[in-house]
Amino acid sequence: MQPFTITSFDEYKKEYQKSVDNPESFWEEYAETFNWHEKWDNVHSGSFEEGNVKWFEGGKLNITENCLDRHLEEHGDKVAFYFEPNKSDDVKRSLTFNELHEEVCKFANVLESKGIGKGDRVAIYMAMTPELAIAALACARVGAVHSIVFAGFSANSLANRIQDCEAKMLITNDGLIRGEKLVRLKDISDKALQNCPTVENVIVRERTQTSNIGWDDDRDEWWDTLMKDASPDHEAVPIDAEDPLFILYTSGSTGKPKGQVHTCGGYMVYASYTMRNVFQPDEEDVYWCTADAGWITGHTYIIYGPLLNAVSGIIFESTPTYPDPGRLWKVVEKYEVNQFYTSPTAIRALMNKDIKYVKKYDLSSLKVLGSVGEPINEEAWNWYNEKIGHKDCPIVDTWWQTETGGIMISPVPDVTPTKPGFATLPLPGIQPALVDDDGNEIEENGSEGNLVIKKPWPGVTRDIWGNHERYMETYFNKYPGYYLTGDGCRRDEDGYYRITGRIDDVLNVSGHRLGTAEIEDAIDDHKRVVESAVVGAPHEVKGEAIYAFVIPEHEIDDPEAFKQEINKLITKAISPIAKVEKVQVVGDLPKTRSGKIMRRILRLVAADEAEELGDTSTLLNPHVVEEIKEGKAY
Ligand code: WT7
Repeated sequence: MQPFTITSFDEYKKEYQKSVDNPESFWEEYAETFNWHEKWDNVHSGSFEEGNVKWFEGGKLNITENCLDRHLEEHGDKVAFYFEPNKSDDVKRSLTFNELHEEVCKFANVLESKGIGKGDRVAIYMAMTPELAIAALACARVGAVHSIVFAGFSANSLANRIQDCEAKMLITNDGLIRGEKLVRLKDISDKALQNCPTVENVIVRERTQTSNIGWDDDRDEWWDTLMKDASPDHEAVPIDAEDPLFILYTSGSTGKPKGQVHTCGGYMVYASYTMRNVFQPDEEDVYWCTADAGWITGHTYIIYGPLLNAVSGIIFESTPTYPDPGRLWKVVEKYEVNQFYTSPTAIRALMNKDIKYVKKYDLSSLKVLGSVGEPINEEAWNWYNEKIGHKDCPIVDTWWQTETGGIMISPVPDVTPTKPGFATLPLPGIQPALVDDDGNEIEENGSEGNLVIKKPWPGVTRDIWGNHERYMETYFNKYPGYYLTGDGCRRDEDGYYRITGRIDDVLNVSGHRLGTAEIEDAIDDHKRVVESAVVGAPHEVKGEAIYAFVIPEHEIDDPEAFKQEINKLITKAISPIAKVEKVQVVGDLPKTRSGKIMRRILRLVAADEAEELGDTSTLLNPHVVEEIKEGKAY
């Protein structure tokens, strides 16, 4: 067991207390285990009130030296990444730490040869192959700021993100294939780049031999051509601890996506500490997180967290149901996976399938099962525990957010007693609290409220790129002194936390976070739509599905076709992941006297719980409620 790993509940309590009594010495001790070019002047400064939190300021480091170079002597021949491609076979492809280091150094030289250096933003829009990690790490090595865009996003979403961070370069593939579906990434990129004048160079890694892709000789180059002559020697550039490492966009309740800024020092320390304690990988273990690197889970628990701990991980290009619903378990058997980390949506999708897809495979290597991204219902928790873990693997239900950089509330495996549906207790360094709507802290257990965090931790987002005001407004102004998570939460008699879901206008569909405003904007683009409102409705597999209430200009003759048109617009503006499940055509939307849409009412109607509505007479237009209750959705 590595140092700084908690192995008993008493030790957890002791470490937790230490982190509360003296957060600075707690994090400083751990930070000292990394390689720094220069030591920090201050462990921590700034506050939530002022929105200027800093950790390890004045320190200089390069995170890739800590992910790679530092391990080479002892672990150079150890596998850093296995690569499991879309089409399953019996081959085990892998990159050792030595090989990954060499690839990253080569690509860092390529980036520098294209004029990319410290502070430049680079957008990455790629398939889930090791090259995605190589591209991100090479950016970090030269001090450039990567912004990975999930390859399921549309040209429009990609363009918005590139424009917002003014990226100088885009790295992409010709295409990707997930399941049976080809996504023409280069075509989508070309379309996005029509509106992105800041991008000077595009590097394309061939993956699918996609035919007839466009090519701009002055801008586009093949990854392989550039890498062929690149030198494998590269000196990592020392970067200030508080300089940005990456920008990752999240949907908010209003307006365009927010570029969360994570920094090199604090993020590194936090990613590493949480990886080590929540998964507790042993030296020879194989760890697998099924997420996509386009989300924060992939950043922290596929790329940085595992590499910082010299853990062997898997990069998985496919989906849980391809070629059949046994794929995940097949991969567990193939690589003898020890720690497995996935989403409740994947679990729910697979538990509805024939159990033979589980039984066929040997899952005895498993030691820890993780869950992330959305509340896990007890049924799914129990199935995961019994059918996958054979009641012998602790389940770590990990609550955190893009903004938090790493896991915040989670059991420590084999240490924290678990309860189905509960993320349980905060990790050391994290002080959660519940506040009521007026911002008063609720001290007693057996209560429910808004989940906030009381004290800065090293992984907290430092800013919204280019919009500090929005950063303050979203997280700090409402309840001064606290970081506002946007989640509702219950704390039971034992002090255990159970996340109940978003309490703002953010939807969580299959663990993907989507803003209502973005979706409504896309729907309102339909020429026959006057106004729309979307809410989340409970869904058996996705957790939440999108239910849209739409006011059309004229009557709609063919509601099915209308829904398809709407979904086409959403796919184009955002992504197919934001498609609506149901559309209800309405004459009006319930509004308060100040003109605000009463989403609470719409949510109850969408959940088929309209009998809970209560008194609606204070609405501006109470008559619409009856009409909406009677209406039909398609
Ligand atoms: C939101 C953050 C953090 C990784 C992926 C999502 C929800 C996340 C849990 C959990 C209940 C959870 C919250 C949170 N969430 N993990 N274990 N139990 N809810 O990152 O896209 O930034 O979304 O996901 O609502 O606020 P994200």
